[in-house]
Amino acid sequence: RIAGPCVLVIFGVTGDLSTKKLMPAVYDLANRGLLPPGFALVGFARREWEQQDFAQIVHSAVRQHARTPFREEVWKQLSEGIRFVPGELGDDESFARLKATIADLDEARGTGGNHAFYLSIPPGLFPTVVDQLRENGLAEQHEGRWSRVVIEKPFGHDLRSARELNRVVSQVFPSSSVFRIDHYLGKETVQNLLALRFANQLFEPVWNNNYVDHVQITMAEDIGIGGRAGYYDGIGAARDVIQNHLLQLLALTAMEEPTSFDARQLRAEKQKVLAATQPPQRMDLHTARGRYTGGWAGGEKVKGYLDEKGIPDDTKTETYAAIRVDIDNRRWAGVPFYLRTGKRLARRVTEIALGFKRAPHLPFTKTDTEELGYNALVLRIQPDEGVTLRFGAKVPGTQMEIREVNMDFAYGGSFTESSPEAYERLILDVLLGDPPLFPQHEEVELAWQILDPILDYWASQDERPEDYLSGTWGPESANEMLARDGFVWRRP
Ligand code: BG6
Repeated sequence: RIAGPCVLVIFGVTGDLSTKKLMPAVYDLANRGLLPPGFALVGFARREWEQQDFAQIVHSAVRQHARTPFREEVWKQLSEGIRFVPGELGDDESFARLKATIADLDEARGTGGNHAFYLSIPPGLFPTVVDQLRENGLAEQHEGRWSRVVIEKPFGHDLRSARELNRVVSQVFPSSSVFRIDHYLGKETVQNLLALRFANQLFEPVWNNNYVDHVQITMAEDIGIGGRAGYYDGIGAARDVIQNHLLQLLALTAMEEPTSFDARQLRAEKQKVLAATQPPQRMDLHTARGRYTGGWAGGEKVKGYLDEKGIPDDTKTETYAAIRVDIDNRRWAGVPFYLRTGKRLARRVTEIALGFKRAPHLPFTKTDTEELGYNALVLRIQPDEGVTLRFGAKVPGTQMEIREVNMDFAYGGSFTESSPEAYERLILDVLLGDPPLFPQHEEVELAWQILDPILDYWASQDERPEDYLSGTWGPESANEMLARDGFVWRRP
């Protein structure tokens, strides 16, 4: 799977995402031999940079953040196709320059007129850019060559704005040319969820409400919001993470087996299960939100959310969100799915944990099984990638005492291949025009339909999100939420 010659244009090339993820991913693809010699990269930004300045910036981003070792010959070939276009997004002359640069590259690199436009810019600016692309003839679809647009979350702020955003983009690009990035779908361990479920006979028979009694999907981060106040405040944890990453994980965990991994089939299954997923029935009992206060994290003293630069005193934005959803279908009726995410939690970890029902009968004395919890299958998405099966085993000795043990699969121990970065996989798929890992607008809408009532409920509340100390596992109300249902959050 090697991409054909093409031009990749990145709008917003001075942003964090571009420096830390996109440029390094392009280099890593080149280094792995997955980009053709005719590949070209164009950066567009409001900066007075010369070509060499931009090449230098890409170079240092690659040296700092690329996964694969630096090789002079790979860099040399890649850098020959790197161009910079200084300009404003709303300015006709800037786009005329961009168009001319692309035409030169088409000629010089033999790209065959294939172009991808990566909008790494705030969604409010999408209409301006897609209009410019249309007016300059850069969005036209011709036989034998392609023009694709890549957009990053947030896909809107709520259902209404997501529909509007989609309307704007789809006026210019057909849906098969729109690639929405949810980088969790590019993660190796997330794709492994499909392998685990559907390449084995062992798991699927117990993957339902006969055996599973609840599911916990956690994405915990130890970092705060860093310098992202402008993006994060007013968005919050639920919009930033639950609407996209966590509901995608839920969909892959709960969906039925698709007929194939063809994009249409896969999306159909994801859509079906998202459509069956109900927002919490009791918002007061089945949602919790919090925001971090100053404390210690990773041996360092850290600021509270309110003290972060650029956060207004009267903010109501949550940095932690937990919700319970139920899936109304035969497989999952009666099994609560708990989703939680937060910043400045005790550690960075993303996992999906299926908790199983207890054995219907235990032929042991009560003291034998005092230390036995419930069986669990934990898909460790990151950082310690792997799968854990937790079950009871006899403690060696003369008595029948049962204790919980783990059976572990760790990527590092089983594979010599290293995982590509999520963005590598996704950028390659864009260039190849391979759509399964990109959510379609319908999925985005369904996810907002689940989240909107929660956000409306929170907005209607006078209280601020509950404080939680940095470096802990979140607000007390989240613990109470599970306790009421007879569960406890895992402490991975
Ligand atoms: C992004 C969120 O989508 O995912 C960030 O906007 C978050 O707030 C990031 O930090 C986490 O990604 P990862 O891959 O490090 O888990």
